[in-house]
Amino acid sequence: MSSQKPSHVLVTGSTGFIGAHVVDNLLARGFSVRGATRSAKKGEQMKAARPQYTSKLDFVIVEDFTNIGVFDAAMEGIDAVIHVASPFFYDTTNNEQELILPAINGVKSILSASAKPGSKVRRIVLTSSFASVLDIDRNPPPGFTYTAAHWNPLTYETAIDPKSTSVVAYRGSKKFAELAAWEFVKNEKPQFDLVALCPPMVFGPVVHPVSSVEQLNESNAVLWSVAAGIDPIPGIRVPAWIDARDLAEAHVQALLTPEAGGKRFIPAAPEPFSYEYAADIMKENFDWAKQSVTTNYKAGEKPHASYGVDGETVARELGVKYHSFRDTVVEFVKQVKEDLT
Ligand SMILES: NC(=O)c1ccc[n+]([C@@H]2O[C@H](COP(=O)([O-])OP(=O)(O)OC[C@H]3O[C@@H](n4cnc5c(N)ncnc54)[C@H](OP(=O)(O)O)[C@@H]3O)[C@@H](O)[C@H]2O)c1
Repeated sequence: MSSQKPSHVLVTGSTGFIGAHVVDNLLARGFSVRGATRSAKKGEQMKAARPQYTSKLDFVIVEDFTNIGVFDAAMEGIDAVIHVASPFFYDTTNNEQELILPAINGVKSILSASAKPGSKVRRIVLTSSFASVLDIDRNPPPGFTYTAAHWNPLTYETAIDPKSTSVVAYRGSKKFAELAAWEFVKNEKPQFDLVALCPPMVFGPVVHPVSSVEQLNESNAVLWSVAAGIDPIPGIRVPAWIDARDLAEAHVQALLTPEAGGKRFIPAAPEPFSYEYAADIMKENFDWAKQSVTTNYKAGEKPHASYGVDGETVARELGVKYHSFRDTVVEFVKQVKEDLT
């Protein structure tokens, strides 16, 4: 990456939960932003909600990632990319077609479009996931901490196996998409460098176009289900999380910090969370939640983490300060209750 600051940043997934926060962070710092979206309507809604940035924000329609080459027409004037877009939902009928191949193709498309002759892109920040770090079968010894040096050992064969759940397939989609990015940089030696961010669960207020609870993104939908009186979600849970605004800050700092080039980071808040803890916070802060949160969320249980997650490196090297879980939950629940129910 050159020491010159970028001026026009392409953000993919810009009309999604995390991408819209990235857009806002960039706009607040004075950058021009081009958002990539599959939906002209969502692009218009994003612009209408930000009238003060009319001259700094435009949207480009990018097709579904099932096709390679979808970004070629979006790169004019762009000198940096934050690639957030990737399918994140669990209600699938074909995991490989709906999750894994689009995640990988999206990465391949954006990197090859950014590497074309004449491209001015000098850095790409990729939203990977803690899913590409975590070894779900590891029984960690006391004091074990996941760092950005760890990789999920999941194989491609297991990820695409029709017997695997969509949760496993999603983890594979993130691992193999991130690997494709590192391999591209190693093999093609493009004029840009890469930074990968591997966040765990992401929660927080929404700033993208959402008009009902049903349209909430996957991670916030799970958090809202606690408030809405849905019983605890079975299955393996990750005790680590980050507020979407802190994650957006990490993305932009990763774009602007020269020393971050070629590195992988885990942006994660220092305090562990659990949905039981979220239920307690909701009941303490909202009278209506005392009625709706089910008693199957045991009160007073402190979140227990059987392993640590190194979010400290991001705080130190990218200068990110983390929200408390309490503040994130209260702001999110208040927003959803007031605006979406
Ligand atoms: N939320 C979390 O807890 C969490 C944790 C770790 C990592 N992540 C990663 O963060 C990123 C954003 O997730 P999010 O939580 O913001 O979810 P989201 O609101 O569902 O956003 C996903 C974005 O990706 C785009 N997208 C999905 N599938 C696509 C496809 N086949 N072709 C083109 N675009 C596609 C969507 O585009 P449209 O707007 O056009 O529909 C949307 O903007 C993803 O890479 C996800 O893996 C999320």
